[in-house]
Formats: sequence, structure tokens, C-alpha cells
Amino acid sequence: MGKEITFVMIKPDGVRRGLVGEIISRFERKGFKIKALKMKWLTREEAERLYEEHKGKHFFEDLIKFVTSGPVVAMLLEGDSAVEVVRRMIGPTDGREAPPGTIRGDFALSKAENIIHASDSKEKVWKEASIFFTKDEIVGDY
Ligand code: CMP
Repeated sequence: MGKEITFVMIKPDGVRRGLVGEIISRFERKGFKIKALKMKWLTREEAERLYEEHKGKHFFEDLIKFVTSGPVVAMLLEGDSAVEVVRRMIGPTDGREAPPGTIRGDFALSKAENIIHASDSKEKVWKEASIFFTKDEIVGDY
């Protein structure tokens, strides 16, 4: 419980399909505060760092190609139990199984191209955020 920050990234398919506004709007309406926001085209090195834990898996190469295929939109969101609540709002990895009402459930029909990524633990938040943001790009309280 208590104020928590999580990292979220709208993947190239979400950006290409024009879903950036819809997705940010869902988080704002839920009550999360945007603490940092950036559009960026990841390099291969940055993408490999972001998905380090999946290195060696059969889908790793496709994942890196996909996530560097266009710009992504990254953000830091602040709110109560942010890590867990945001994960619940995005839904399970496979869009075909994600329940309606979740972001993947409403907009994705694939396991690989699943619109959005969010940190799955508090420990991962700063590791992932550091690929996109410096400390001075995170706003103070407002
Ligand atoms: P994400 O939540 O960003 O974390 C890892 C990503 O790898 C996942 O979303 C999917 O985009 C991708 N992924 C996970 N499992 C598979 C799979 N079996 N086949 C293809 N892509 C996958």
C-alpha cells in the first residue's frame, strides 16, 4: 500500500495503431499521476537491456525486432499499489486470453504484439525506467 511508482511502455504496435491517447487516458481516469513521459525509438542495445531476462528464449530475437520496429511511449505512473494495479489493468500477456476491460483484452489479439509493457515488480521499475529517463526528467509533487 501507499504511494508507489511503476514503469509503463506503449509498444510500437500501440503507437502505430493510434492508441497512445486511449491508453494514457485509462491510467489518468483510474487516478494515476504521470511523473515522466517520453516518446523514443529504442536501439537494439537498449531493447536487449530492457528484455535482458528473456535472453536465450525462443522468442527473444522476434521480440527485439518488434520492439525496435517503431517508436514507443514510456511513462512513469504514481499511485497506490501502482505496480500491481497497472499489471491488472493491462491484463495477461496473451491478448487472446486477456479479459475484456483490460488493455490487452480490448486491443490485442496476439502474445507477441500485445500493445503495452509494465514492470512486474518494484525491483524492475528503476532498471527499466533508467533506459528512458534521467532523474531530472521525473517531475516533483503536483
Ligand atoms: P511483456 O509483458 O512486454 O514481456 C515480455 C514480452 O515478450 C511479452 O510482453 C511479449 O511481447 C513477448 N513474449 C512473451 N512470450 C512470448 C511468446 N511465447 N512468443 C512471442 N512473444 C512473447
